[in-house]
Amino acid sequence: MTDPFDLFDDWYAEARQSEINDSNAMALATADERGRPSVRMVLLKGHGPDGFIFYTNFEGRKAGELLDNPHAALLFHWKSLRRQVRIEGPVGRVDDATADAYFATRSRDSQLGAWASDQSRPLASRDLFMARYEEAATRFEGGPVPRPPHWSGFRVKPQRIEFWQDREHRLHERHLFTRHGEDWDEGMLYP
Ligand SMILES: Cc1cc2nc3c(=O)[nH]c(=O)nc-3n(C[C@H](O)[C@H](O)[C@H](O)COP(=O)(O)O)c2cc1C
Repeated sequence: MTDPFDLFDDWYAEARQSEINDSNAMALATADERGRPSVRMVLLKGHGPDGFIFYTNFEGRKAGELLDNPHAALLFHWKSLRRQVRIEGPVGRVDDATADAYFATRSRDSQLGAWASDQSRPLASRDLFMARYEEAATRFEGGPVPRPPHWSGFRVKPQRIEFWQDREHRLHERHLFTRHGEDWDEGMLYP
């Protein structure tokens, strides 16, 4: 039986070679408490059997939806390989040590940007945003930029992972892995 995480690692490694940029970009679908969906791109910043991690502002729209309704779907589409991977499951917050460690690897500009952005809120002018950025730069001048309390990561723990591969004559191949406890069932789907 194939391990879905090994298969993901193989496809991801190939995508890193062949995609022109952002092979770690994935669409993240969430739904509000009434079940209305929304979707946007985020970047995969860690993955393994415990889940797929991305980082964001916890006061923005996606975080609000995930805190109300902690389930998500992720989608990779690697055009250069004619492949997609769909991942679905419950969502939790990464621990502070994990978020701190990742935040510390970001460029200083991105770290300051995390302080300056009121993600998903209306912005009156670009100048206001730049002023907030400069304010953060002055505040932390001469020292490290700490992780803002409203900035952290979510981890999607997959219950379902589907690998789709383009094949000739539109006879595409779909492999579905479904989690049962710590085990996975493997099957195929009609395209
Ligand atoms: C390729 C790409 C990668 C992105 N990565 C992230 C990310 O990792 N985290 C994030 O918060 N926003 C990321 N964004 C911006 C989001 O798509 C989105 O505009 C923003 O997070 C606000 O979403 P929300 O209002 O639903 O919370 C990315 C956008 C693109 C196009």
